[in-house]
Amino acid sequence: MSNIAAKAISALFAITLGFLATSTMANTDNDAIAERIKPVGSVCVEGEDCGGPATAAAGGAFSAADTYTASCAACHASGILDAPKFGSSDWSDRATAKGMDTLVTNAINGINAMPPRGTCASCSDDDIKALVEYMVDSAK
Ligand code: HEC
Repeated sequence: MSNIAAKAISALFAITLGFLATSTMANTDNDAIAERIKPVGSVCVEGEDCGGPATAAAGGAFSAADTYTASCAACHASGILDAPKFGSSDWSDRATAKGMDTLVTNAINGINAMPPRGTCASCSDDDIKALVEYMVDSAK
């Protein structure tokens, strides 16, 4: 038998042993395994506390900071095209001059180079309002 074949066979043997050891453990440790896989199979009914951030993400909880980064920062971080710049007095000036309601309405409908909803198609009116507040707050 060639050396390589011998190595291959002993490797196979080791894998088989390993598999046997694992399946024996599995049989004697069913409770531990059931416990480990439980969250995967558990059903979460609406209204129940189904445990933490994963549920919130699945339910689409809105984060102004994250959505700003994803949808608004492309223009508002740098102030490109004369977009009011995040963290600058651009925002406080506009809020004073126009009022929050007008800023929110213009963000929803778009104004000049500002696209409707700032390209965030999935943002509700309330989400846009939260984003505008987030950016205006950045000026303080
Ligand atoms: C493609 C670039 C671009 C993106 C993306 C963008 N904006 Fe703008 N935004 C602008 C520009 C340019 C202006 C300035 C428009 C003007 O006053 O002429 C502006 C202005 C605004 C204003 C002020 C409106 C007013 O009446 O003065 C608000 C509020 C606003 N954006 C919110 C948002 C929000 C919220 C997002 C993300 C969901 C967003 N923008 C994404 C370019 C952008």
